[in-house]
Amino acid sequence: MCGIVGYVGKRDVLPVLLGGLSKLEYRGYDSAGVAYIADGAMQIVKCKGRLANLQEKLSGTVAENTIGIGHTRWATHGEPSDVNSHPHTNMAGDLAVVHNGIIENFAKLKQWLQGKGIHFVSETDTEVVAHLVNYYYEGDLKSAVMRAVKMLEGSYALGVMNINEPHRIVAARKDSPLVIGLGQGENLIASDFPALLEYTKDVYLLDDGEVAVITEDAVEIYDAYGNRAEKEKFTIDWDVTQAEKGGWEHFMIKEIHEQPRAMYDTLMTRMRGNRIDLSEINITEELIKGIRGIHIVACGSAYHAGIMGKYVIEQVARIPVNVDVASEFRYRMPSPLLSKDDLFIVISQSGETADTIAALREAQSKGAKVIAITNVKGSTISREADATMHTQAGMEIAVATSKGYLTQVLCLYMVAAELGRMRGTLDEAQYTAYVENLKKLPALLEQVLEGKEIVQQLASKRFMDVNEFFIGRGADHALMMEGSLKLKELSYIHSETYAAGELKHGPIALIEKNTLVMALATQTALLEKLVSNIKEVKARGAFVVAMTQQSNVAALEKDADLVLTLPDIDDLFAPILAAVPYQLYGYYTAVFKGCDVDKPRNLAKSVTVE
Ligand code: F6R
Repeated sequence: MCGIVGYVGKRDVLPVLLGGLSKLEYRGYDSAGVAYIADGAMQIVKCKGRLANLQEKLSGTVAENTIGIGHTRWATHGEPSDVNSHPHTNMAGDLAVVHNGIIENFAKLKQWLQGKGIHFVSETDTEVVAHLVNYYYEGDLKSAVMRAVKMLEGSYALGVMNINEPHRIVAARKDSPLVIGLGQGENLIASDFPALLEYTKDVYLLDDGEVAVITEDAVEIYDAYGNRAEKEKFTIDWDVTQAEKGGWEHFMIKEIHEQPRAMYDTLMTRMRGNRIDLSEINITEELIKGIRGIHIVACGSAYHAGIMGKYVIEQVARIPVNVDVASEFRYRMPSPLLSKDDLFIVISQSGETADTIAALREAQSKGAKVIAITNVKGSTISREADATMHTQAGMEIAVATSKGYLTQVLCLYMVAAELGRMRGTLDEAQYTAYVENLKKLPALLEQVLEGKEIVQQLASKRFMDVNEFFIGRGADHALMMEGSLKLKELSYIHSETYAAGELKHGPIALIEKNTLVMALATQTALLEKLVSNIKEVKARGAFVVAMTQQSNVAALEKDADLVLTLPDIDDLFAPILAAVPYQLYGYYTAVFKGCDVDKPRNLAKSVTVE
């Protein structure tokens, strides 16, 4: 959601800003702009639409040895338009601001500023910041920003420049990510790592309330009271090639194919002999003995991973698990029910999802110890949680998650194994067999990927559908929630997930001749039940595509129109393999429809506003 890049140094600032913004495209945006100082004036160029439009407007322009800030905007206040695009300026146009987040009290501030004769040109909340900083400007941009941010309610990551101080950018952050890239004779700001990787891997992670002054050879950071803050350097362990397609047509398909590697790394970095080492999250036998229940809180696909976690933890470790979407959990009235004897887990690929951060803080304020599962080291969630388990998915660029989701699921399977072992619900032999199954997953996922053509063919026949259903029982139902989301967000085909037994309680009314019903049937004990559900929809004309392990195919062949086959593995682990064909199905369907696969409409990779 929105991207910020800023640069101070000797290079031509425009390619740095445009290149950085292009690396942040995955966050989602609908307009883009830059501000830079040249010819003694603040130059602002911005426009609605893709970055290519901005690139075209700037072609032929060179601006060396100066400073600049750039922005991709995902509209919140005011439609996507040239005038609502960032950067925003004061009335004189000599001060420029880019902003991520939402200024919640902007209407009040706007009224106050208008009362002082200030004229606004846009509908955005951000313009308030430009006028406010200018209002307090008395020759020192840092002081003006510090005074202005004290008036702001809501969330912000800010980059600010003033023509009178043409060699420095001032940055500030509250509840919206901002990092400072530390180069040699040049420094940068960005809302996310990919924008910096071409120049440096060393960064300062700005904390809430901090303000930074960035020049080409120094970065000074101040706390909310104006005192100098000592920061530790953080080194990003991703490299720039991860932000490139490397010959693939889309990041989405590249990342789907990276899953065997991501799963291998996520598992094997924790294997010590035949034991899964989760010392990073301090799950000790003593802690486990006292646990009454587990809460898992997350959004979107991470929430779906949480539901998978519920099935596996309850089955393996026999501990009740409550899973909640973060935006609901945080506003549970009068407050969420939590006991200090509960284990609290948040899951977030980006580590920056606003609702998940709020849920984490809410849980901590109630005395709970929070464990995070996240992909991004140095993210807010990774830093604020009491303990963090990092997935090893690598940088995920496609807006729709694939490897991020599957590695979260794997982490929960690992947690389940350790909980089961410590509680004695898994004996030594069962634990060993469980771990062996986890180790088989990367190779089996490769095998599933090899079968992609049949999924592609199916997509080629169904991409004009308007409505599809995804059904399953138990962990299969949890997996189908994700399968259905992949289809709808990538291809814009409406799809619904139902626990297979629920269909006849209402949704079966929507089944017509040729309605596609995807049925996942990896749980052998529930196979007969699922076959009955398949018969019910077949009797109403549905076209049923079932999926199961090789050894169960015969049980489904008679009733389903098509059976997609997974390699044999213990039922408990089979839903993990099933994730891939549904990701591929969503992907190929979107490609056949001509959708913007890596950046589906209206979506943002990192949802940093609530
Ligand atoms: C769907 C998807 C989203 C995210 C959700 C949470 O493909 O990617 O539903 O899962 O926005 O994001 P994180 O995991 O970054 O908190």
